[in-house]
Amino acid sequence: MKQTVIAVVGCGRIANNAHFPAFMQMDEIRIKYACDLIESKAQASKEQWSKIENVITDYQVALNDPEVEAVYVLTPNFAHYTVAMDALRAGKHVFVEKPITVNYALSCEMAAEAAKQNKILNIGVCNRFHKSVEMLEEMNREGKFGDIYHVYCSFRAFRSIPGLGGAFTTKAMSGGGALIDWGVHYLDLILYILGSPKLKTCTADAYCEMAKDMKAYKYEYMWAEDTKDVENGTNDVDDLISGHVRTEGASISFNGSWAANINVPNNTFIDFMGTKAGARLTYGGHFTIFDGETLESITPEYDIPDMYLLEDKAFIESIHTGVKGRSHIDNILETMQLLDTLYQSAEKKEEIKI
Ligand SMILES: NC(=O)c1ccc[n+]([C@@H]2O[C@H](COP(=O)([O-])OP(=O)(O)OC[C@H]3O[C@@H](n4cnc5c(N)ncnc54)[C@H](O)[C@@H]3O)[C@@H](O)[C@H]2O)c1
Repeated sequence: MKQTVIAVVGCGRIANNAHFPAFMQMDEIRIKYACDLIESKAQASKEQWSKIENVITDYQVALNDPEVEAVYVLTPNFAHYTVAMDALRAGKHVFVEKPITVNYALSCEMAAEAAKQNKILNIGVCNRFHKSVEMLEEMNREGKFGDIYHVYCSFRAFRSIPGLGGAFTTKAMSGGGALIDWGVHYLDLILYILGSPKLKTCTADAYCEMAKDMKAYKYEYMWAEDTKDVENGTNDVDDLISGHVRTEGASISFNGSWAANINVPNNTFIDFMGTKAGARLTYGGHFTIFDGETLESITPEYDIPDMYLLEDKAFIESIHTGVKGRSHIDNILETMQLLDTLYQSAEKKEEIKI
C-alpha cells in the first residue's frame, strides 16, 4: 500500500486526544513531522506516538519537504488561516480543525486557494462522521420524520469557560466563544442532517457575563487550563449565546453557554421536530425517535465508532480519489457563514439577512 506522508502542525489536546490515536490505526499514513512552536510539546507527542518520525518547531521545514503530501493544522483558530494558506501554496493537501478559522471572509479565501491549487482542504467537523448523525441524516432523507419544521438545540454547561484569558477567550485569536467553539459542532450537524437548507435570516444575543473579573471567576471545570492567563489575558467572547435561524426549510433555535449559572444534567442535546416523528439526539451519543403515529419512543442500539478515525480516513481517501467528501471546505462554508452572521446580529442587535 502506498502510504501518504503527513506533517502535523500543533501538538496540543486535539492532536494527542483524537488525531494521533487515529493515525496509529491507519497503515495508510506515515507521520514524517510533528511540529509545535513549543518543542517540548512536539517531543512529548513523539514519545507517546511511535509513528512520529521527526520533531520540528518551524512548519516551513515540512512544507519544503517534497515527500510531505498533506498537512494537519491543529493549532488555535487564528493560526488555521496562515498555516493552511502556506501549506496549500506549497502544494500540500490540508486538514484544518474546526472552526475553519476566525471568520467567514478568511474561510472563503481558504476555499478559493484550495480550488486554485487543486488540493483537498477538509475541515474537522467530526460530528458529520458520528454514527447517530449519519443515521439521522439518512432517516430525514428517507422521510421518516415527515417535514422537519423546527430544530431546537441546547449546548449549555455550568462554569466551564476554557483557558480563561488565553486563545479560547480572546476574540482576535478564536473568532468568538461558546458559539464558534461549541456551537459550530451543533449548527454544522443540524445543517448536515437537514440537507443544507438555504439560509434566510438569523438573529442572536450574546453575553460575556461570567468572568468580567477574571481573577474572581469560580469554576467547576476548565479545559485548556494550561493556556489560561487571568493576570494579563483577555476575555472578550460570548460565554452565552441564544439565537434563531430561518432557512428555506426548518427554523432553528438554540441556547448555548460555557458557563451559565444553571447546573442540570443532560443539557447538551438537539431536538428535531417533524410532522410525522421527532428525535432527540444526545450530543456525542445515541438518539430517541418519538413516533407521532404509534406514539412509541425508540432508542436504537448500535456501536459508536471513532468519528476522528473516520474523518481522517475520509481525508486520505479524498486525497487519492480527488472526490470532495462531506467535510470538504466547500461543504462547510455555509456553517461558517451562519456563525459569522449570528455574531454580526449579536453585535448589531438586529436580525440579519444571510
Ligand atoms: N473537533 C473537535 O472536537 C475539537 C476539539 C478540541 C479542539 N478542536 C480545535 O483544535 C484546535 C486546537 O485546539 P487544542 O485544544 O488542541 O489547542 P491546544 O492549545 O491544546 O494546542 C494547539 C497547539 O498548537 C501550537 N501552535 C500554535 N501555533 C503554532 C504554529 N504556528 N506552529 C506550530 N504549532 C503551533 C500550540 O503551541 C499548541 O501546542 C482549535 O482550533 C480547536 O477549536 C477541535
